[in-house]
Amino acid sequence: MRFTQTLITVAAISLLALGSAADGRTRAECERDYKPQVGQAGKDVVWVPTPDELVSRMLTMAKVTPKDYVVDLGAGDGKIAIAAGKKFGATALGIEYNPEMARLAQCYVQAEGVTDKVKIVQGDIFKEDFSKATVVTMYLLPELNMRLRPTILAMKPGTRVTSHQFSMGDWEADETAEIEYRTAYLWIVPARVEGDWTFREDGGKTTFSVAMTQKFQRVSGEAGMGGNRNPLVGATLRGEEIKFAFNDDKGQTRTLTGTVRGSEITGTLRGPGSTEIRVSGKRS
Ligand SMILES: C[S@@+](CC[C@H](N)C(=O)[O-])C[C@H]1O[C@@H](n2cnc3c(N)ncnc32)[C@H](O)[C@@H]1O
Repeated sequence: MRFTQTLITVAAISLLALGSAADGRTRAECERDYKPQVGQAGKDVVWVPTPDELVSRMLTMAKVTPKDYVVDLGAGDGKIAIAAGKKFGATALGIEYNPEMARLAQCYVQAEGVTDKVKIVQGDIFKEDFSKATVVTMYLLPELNMRLRPTILAMKPGTRVTSHQFSMGDWEADETAEIEYRTAYLWIVPARVEGDWTFREDGGKTTFSVAMTQKFQRVSGEAGMGGNRNPLVGATLRGEEIKFAFNDDKGQTRTLTGTVRGSEITGTLRGPGSTEIRVSGKRS
């Protein structure tokens, strides 16, 4: 009986060992098939890898967690997608146009033992669907970022986007970091809040209206409670989280902190003496 159990255990261990050997060639073995050259042509931009430290910084800025689905646009050797899976525990996809590069990157995925979390596909970033990403990473070119911008802005509010070196025109970054003269940018896809809103206290009598204009994450406008309308002060929009203050008709400051979901904002309105009521707003 004990002998049989030992045999089964040995067989199981051997199978496991075989599995990982079959799964993982070393990085050097991957490079025997294909060794890329820094600066080699790509479809829309050449291959230059992001330095390791900056990769970590970009993923840290984007607050990547195991709940995230990270997509690297123009994945090169797959290093950003691999780091997202290996160091941050995220699920990650790299999209790379060059088929040999994509094959090398997928081989590295196996060599790094992250096939359960990370995948590299051969494809064109302007054709592949990455709308389900919660984090998008890129090291492309300014004009390519601008071509991608409408697609990115249509993604779920709160999606984080991080770019090595290149900005996105007049969409200012929410955060930047510098590492050895290289810049990492972070944007958070803002909810769409432009328009006229009517807010009501949940189960109460208070009402107020807000008219908002928006340029990306920058919001301005005015609010009216009673007769007067007063400007919004200190408005911030981070993904779907919005905050602003305004003076009511008695000159007392009211502060709204809310969450935007389509044409609805739910949150709290703080008033004089730190009183707080729950409010819901609808866009007309
Ligand atoms: C500057 S490298 C960045 C590689 C990697 N993201 C990194 O930061 O280390 C850009 C990569 O995008 C790839 N590329 C260029 N145009 C592409 C396209 N339209 N679709 C997918 N990949 C593309 C290139 O082959 C190259 O590997």
